[in-house]
Amino acid sequence: MCYAIPGKIIELNDRTATVDYYGEQKKAYTDLLEVQIGDYVYAQGGFLIQKVPPKEAHDILSDWEELFFKLQEKDKKLSAHPKNLYERANAIRQQNQGNSCCVHGILEFSNYCRQNCLYCGIRRDNKELTRYRLEIPQILESVKYAYDLGFKALVLQSGEDPYYDDDKLETIVKTIREKYPVLLFVSIGERSLSAYRRLYDAGARGVLMRFETCNPDAYKKVKPDSDLQNRLQLIRDLRKMGYLIVTGFLVGLPGEDKKDILENIKLTASLDAEMFSFGPFIPHPQTPLAETPMPKLTKLLRVIAEARLMNPESRILVTTALETLDQDAARQGLLAGANSLMINVTPPKYRKLYDIYPQRFGTDLDTQEHIDRVIGLLKSLGRAPTDLSV
Ligand code: 5AD
Repeated sequence: MCYAIPGKIIELNDRTATVDYYGEQKKAYTDLLEVQIGDYVYAQGGFLIQKVPPKEAHDILSDWEELFFKLQEKDKKLSAHPKNLYERANAIRQQNQGNSCCVHGILEFSNYCRQNCLYCGIRRDNKELTRYRLEIPQILESVKYAYDLGFKALVLQSGEDPYYDDDKLETIVKTIREKYPVLLFVSIGERSLSAYRRLYDAGARGVLMRFETCNPDAYKKVKPDSDLQNRLQLIRDLRKMGYLIVTGFLVGLPGEDKKDILENIKLTASLDAEMFSFGPFIPHPQTPLAETPMPKLTKLLRVIAEARLMNPESRILVTTALETLDQDAARQGLLAGANSLMINVTPPKYRKLYDIYPQRFGTDLDTQEHIDRVIGLLKSLGRAPTDLSV
């Protein structure tokens, strides 16, 4: 987002470029952007996404220079001398990923869903929910809004809504990519491989799809219309197609076994996730799991720390559900091994209706205010918006 630093291309190979940020080098794929050595660029999720005119790049880099090194120092200080599990995880994050941090925007464009997951407030049997869909012009308007705010990576999310057929989805992705140099992720549920192929060809490069739980019995109970093995196979096939995968699980689902959490972390890693996304299950009153208690923040922080210790080089997201547990959760998550965040860019009047669980964090926040808060938090922790390497 606006918290972004351009880098300079110093080397080009077959499919990748080496990008220099104040002497620190990262790699990124070149297939979305034609570049030459010496160009200034923004990278996101390991993809070059936009060239920056040299004069503009010099101005941004000189504005950032002092702060950049100060942030690095602060991050090093905050992660030195680890004493407990969280601090150890934070130190491992610092040693392996430096102070890089991704901030993606998420646009929820429809809350219709043909699935009937027992935990989810937008399940098809929730007849009390007012449903909404954004048409293509509204989606483009929202993307413009997010792009103008500085977002460089966006997730397009919806329930499993067949109203958006393959043609419509392809048009959406293609039009966005023609107009805006953003890294696009889709989070649209289980679709055919050919649908995903078309979206890849139209310019999408990421898929966000959690497997929710690795425990087959728990899965069957909470996702009656879906098959765990099929979903996992789909995620693997999408990875093979070239998509970046954001995946993970829910913590605290009924039937969760003690050993499930470690298995969930291992499964996320085995899917070659570019980013880990897991959050607490939060009961929704209009679902069959309304009375199931939710897990505590400390349990989630432990999961973040364990995931970091087991996967030193991963990107780990502070999810909205985690932030919903506690006002201070994002800070605590970032200090327990996490290094990514998402900001909701759905038009405010629809946010409440994307009611997957109650009191979602960020629903009432103005996007600019949310961005300011996130930047304030990242700066206070010494984190910088350089892209992480591929
Ligand atoms: N609590 C927390 N997360 C939920 N999700 C759906 N319902 C809930 C809930 N009650 C998550 C699922 C899904 C993502 C879009 O939202 O993990 O993959």
